[in-house]
Amino acid sequence: MVIVIDFGSQYTQLIVRKIRELGFRSEILPFNTPIEEIKDKKPGAIILSGGPRSVTEKNAPTISPLIWSFDIPILGICYGMQLISQQFGGKVVSSPTKEYGSSQLFLNSNLPADDLFRGVPSQDTVWMSHGDYISSLPPSFTTYASTESCPIAAMGNSEKRVYGVQFHPEVTHTHSGKIILYNFLSVVAGLKPDWSIKSYLEEITYSIKTSVGQGKVIVALSGGVDSTIMVTLLSKTLPGQIYPIFIDHGLLRFQEAEEVLQALAKISVADNIINAQDRFFAALKNVKEGEKKRKIIGREFIKVLESEAQKIPGVTHLAQGTIYPDVIESAVSVSGLAAKIKTHHNVGGLPKRLRLKLVEPLRYLFKDEVRELGKLLGLPLSIIERQPFPGPGLAVRILGEVTIDRANKLRMVDKIFRDELREWEGYKNIWQAFAVLTGVKTVGVKGDERSYEELVAIRAVSSTDGMTADWIEIPPAVLRKISERITREVAGVNRVVYDITTKPPSTIEWE
Ligand code: XMP
Repeated sequence: MVIVIDFGSQYTQLIVRKIRELGFRSEILPFNTPIEEIKDKKPGAIILSGGPRSVTEKNAPTISPLIWSFDIPILGICYGMQLISQQFGGKVVSSPTKEYGSSQLFLNSNLPADDLFRGVPSQDTVWMSHGDYISSLPPSFTTYASTESCPIAAMGNSEKRVYGVQFHPEVTHTHSGKIILYNFLSVVAGLKPDWSIKSYLEEITYSIKTSVGQGKVIVALSGGVDSTIMVTLLSKTLPGQIYPIFIDHGLLRFQEAEEVLQALAKISVADNIINAQDRFFAALKNVKEGEKKRKIIGREFIKVLESEAQKIPGVTHLAQGTIYPDVIESAVSVSGLAAKIKTHHNVGGLPKRLRLKLVEPLRYLFKDEVRELGKLLGLPLSIIERQPFPGPGLAVRILGEVTIDRANKLRMVDKIFRDELREWEGYKNIWQAFAVLTGVKTVGVKGDERSYEELVAIRAVSSTDGMTADWIEIPPAVLRKISERITREVAGVNRVVYDITTKPPSTIEWE
């Protein structure tokens, strides 16, 4: 196991992904995890991530010096390297300018042969993103490489097996990044790669079987990719012991409930659809603010699930489709380094109230790994490649009050938009495409009449994991047809705009 200690870098998840791509097991822990807990994981190597702060600041995030006594190879990246330098007696200084982007790295000629830079060209392109730099090397360390503006761009103490790189090997722009990570894990730490989706499936199957035993599991389904893959896995692992429940909150897309049922039927999972639309709309009455809507929907969801769970005598577990980014996001926000952007819909409060044990088979997987697992389980591509859909559904795409009429209006706009997009060859590159009711009215002319109707927005983005996103360049002719159809076919809409914002600075959903 390779532990990545997170200091708040936007690239921390990438480090884990790269390590797993190389076939090693990896997990992220926040920097303030108690040092005994890190030790208990028996890591074979530790990586200290980058971070937005400066080690020269008062109260900067740090790590217990006890870590150096573990006798485990440690690699610090950017902030992580500066932390190593500081703790081993080097000097870190703040620079008024930030070095950001590609740089040429020059390796020193006197490097240990069988070490971090084995097989890396003596001059290579790396990705930099830092303000601070190491101005004087800690005693007993050697400078491994430099760039024009950064004299100590990599350093190491091969006896202690502690290393630091100022650049980001986890980013693809660092040409030899994967080689450096591989060298660290394989050559320096002597780890053997044994992680793959197939091994994950074997391990998780064993672990679910032993932890659930003869228990009964209520499975919370949202109808999305994650929960469909999760229920497939559970139906194979615990036949006859699962009770899937799909709560229709009335905020699904056009005919989505039917589609979900068909998908479940395809994988022979018995469904139990709970129509809870009335109570959700009643709870959302007069509520206009996005965060409030999210909280109300989460709360109602828990209440419905709670009353359904009570109908299953002897239920012992609750399964949900939590995936790794959700886990990291909550852990990182607990560590206080990252601000909470929005309350993600989950049913975390439920198990405590019901005294149910949690089963989260996808807890350690990223979205693309979840999809790979789906393939391994033999699910059809039509299910695996479905676009993500947020737990609170259309509520976060209806700005202002959510009513049945507005949800119906949005369903129509959204259907037209997605139907037209599906006709376009670029559709396969879209991570998510949806429409938004803005609640803004504008003046228009329909026939000979003045109209004063709603402005709708449409949004289509590409992404690999939802953490960052770019808007899709839809051809003008496709956009024209979409706009014509929406304004002609949906009553109360006279204007359509296309959202051309990346994430960051915006998010994918509007609320
Ligand atoms: P944002 O809007 O934060 O969304 O850029 C990133 C990805 O997460 C989805 N999303 C959610 N998924 N529950 C979910 O299961 C939620 O509450 C939620 N909010 C946003 C969003 O659709 C996008 O794919």
